[in-house]
Amino acid sequence: MKPVRILFVCLGNICRSPLAEGILRHLSLGYPVDVDSAGTGGWHIGDLPDPRSIAVARRHGIDIAGQRGRKIDAGDFAAFDLIFAMDRNNLATLRALAPPATQHKLHLFLSYTLGVERDVPDPYYGGPEGFQTVYSMLFEGCSSLIGRLEEIGS
Ligand code: 4NP
Repeated sequence: MKPVRILFVCLGNICRSPLAEGILRHLSLGYPVDVDSAGTGGWHIGDLPDPRSIAVARRHGIDIAGQRGRKIDAGDFAAFDLIFAMDRNNLATLRALAPPATQHKLHLFLSYTLGVERDVPDPYYGGPEGFQTVYSMLFEGCSSLIGRLEEIGS
């Protein structure tokens, strides 16, 4: 089976999407999946994930400190099978950037994975508890996604 290529996208690529990338990679051991993340904004290109994302991941046994921020680019829309926006603002940005033939790859993460029209909220300006909330939402969504990977990839 060919790997399913999955891209997570948030605004800065330092809080939510790197965490999603780390969680899915961790959960997907043994499943054929390629995972990456990117931001719609370019402020944190080359940066480590936010220390609060690194910390919450580490508390759950996941190391995301090797990941670096990058901005989405035009090639990503062809290179990935599924592109998950963390919130509706970022989904709208992706919709405006993506060529028509790739629009079907774009989804709101919690809508696709859990069937709820909810954003994964931006925790950047809040306290550490927001990062635990985000972790839990991402873990639940990624766990559901894992169960569907074989069906998606076939
Ligand atoms: P993220 O959070 O989109 O989950 O990575 C943010 C990180 C940085 C900024 C905004 C959101 N920023 O404005 O720098």
